[in-house]
Amino acid sequence: MNFREFVKKLEKEGKLVKIKDKVSVKYEIASIMKKLDGKPLLFENVKECNIPVVANLYSTIDLFAESLNIDKKDMIKTLAAATSKPKKFKISNKVKYKEVAADLTKLPILTHYGVDGGPYMSSVIVVAKDKEYGINSSYHRMMVIGKNKVAVRILPRHLNEFIKRGCKEVAICVGNSSQVAIASAISADIGVSELEIANALLPTEFNEIDGHVVPESEMIMIAKVLDEQHDEGPFIDLTETYDIVRKQPVFEIKKIYIKTDPMYHALLPGGLEHKTLMGLPREPTIFNEVNKVCKCKNVLITPGGCSWLHAVVQIEKKKSDDGMKAIEAAFNGHKSLKHVVIVDEDINIYDINDVEWAIATRFQASRSLVLKEKQTGSSLDPSSNPDTRETTKVGIDATIPSGHSKEDFKKNKVPGEDKVNVKKYIK
Ligand SMILES: Cc1cc2nc3c(=O)[nH]c(=O)nc-3n(C[C@H](O)[C@H](O)[C@H](O)COP(=O)(O)O)c2cc1C
Repeated sequence: MNFREFVKKLEKEGKLVKIKDKVSVKYEIASIMKKLDGKPLLFENVKECNIPVVANLYSTIDLFAESLNIDKKDMIKTLAAATSKPKKFKISNKVKYKEVAADLTKLPILTHYGVDGGPYMSSVIVVAKDKEYGINSSYHRMMVIGKNKVAVRILPRHLNEFIKRGCKEVAICVGNSSQVAIASAISADIGVSELEIANALLPTEFNEIDGHVVPESEMIMIAKVLDEQHDEGPFIDLTETYDIVRKQPVFEIKKIYIKTDPMYHALLPGGLEHKTLMGLPREPTIFNEVNKVCKCKNVLITPGGCSWLHAVVQIEKKKSDDGMKAIEAAFNGHKSLKHVVIVDEDINIYDINDVEWAIATRFQASRSLVLKEKQTGSSLDPSSNPDTRETTKVGIDATIPSGHSKEDFKKNKVPGEDKVNVKKYIK
């Protein structure tokens, strides 16, 4: 399903909140996005420009599951399958675009927070090509520093490598299908194309524009990678705390192509959509690693842990050390993970109270705590060492300790609790 088809579907189902009032790209749209986080929004009337803004579109796992036509509980399996079997695609050139002026002031680019260094495009995906490695697609926030110039945050991963190897021009995709949105957040091995992972998730249309292969999007920009750096930031990031100012590469927007009546996709940094996109792709990688050492049943990267730093892993415990092994495996499956809790099958990992209950009743720090000091942690964690990223990691094995009767640790039910029809008693 492409971007606008999903927006239409949500509208039909009454799940899209339409905002008709005139709203500004400076703080006003972001403030409404934050208040209505988790609800897909359509801002029909933008003060500064005549392009409508879609926001919070992929902000929950339920929305993602719906857009991918799958059951939410099959998400990990589906992502793992697509990642292990990317699907080649053909360029159909079916999608029609027209060129407009390469002028970013004509687009509804939001300024989200008071401390941000400027207006930011935060939902955009960069598609880059390398002779040997093929096509890479990844997210890169872009701070607008001129009518056709942006400072781009590029971490030392694949796009950075492509640029070092000579990539001088890229395509920037705005308003993407859910399969492209989620696949581009996956850290696939270099040489594995995230766009082929997207195509394995759902068949995707591709065009070739000015020599760039691009997935169907609402807008495509062609940008030159300049041999120039500029201050980028501050930027309120995933943790809702600010990321520092750094010198980052500058891109010059050479061309902008749009679909007829395009929509702009806004993503609130630190909001649920940001969190969902970051966390979801890590659940299958943790799942696979834990499954190598014991039977993994489910994984949740929790929104309270910024959908990045905390995970709950559910296992079917068969051996006494399964919980401790699962802790090590979870850290292997997601290198930025800081705290992990291992629980049994009877714990509802989507209910934080149930997880806390397992810690309260099944865990003893003296026998099932793992403390790993001097580890490399996440650059997103403001409490880690800012220069080295050094952090302390903690694993909590909150499974029922071996050698005890499971009965001692079960939540007891009142006889008939599941069957009673309470409505009958409330008059
Ligand atoms: C919403 C969102 C925003 C992101 N912003 C950036 C960014 O500004 N810079 C960056 O280097 N990575 C960013 N990332 C991470 C990369 O897109 C992600 O790690 C990607 O998988 C790395 O791609 P690669 O494995 O092809 O290098 C972001 C991810 C998401 C989901």
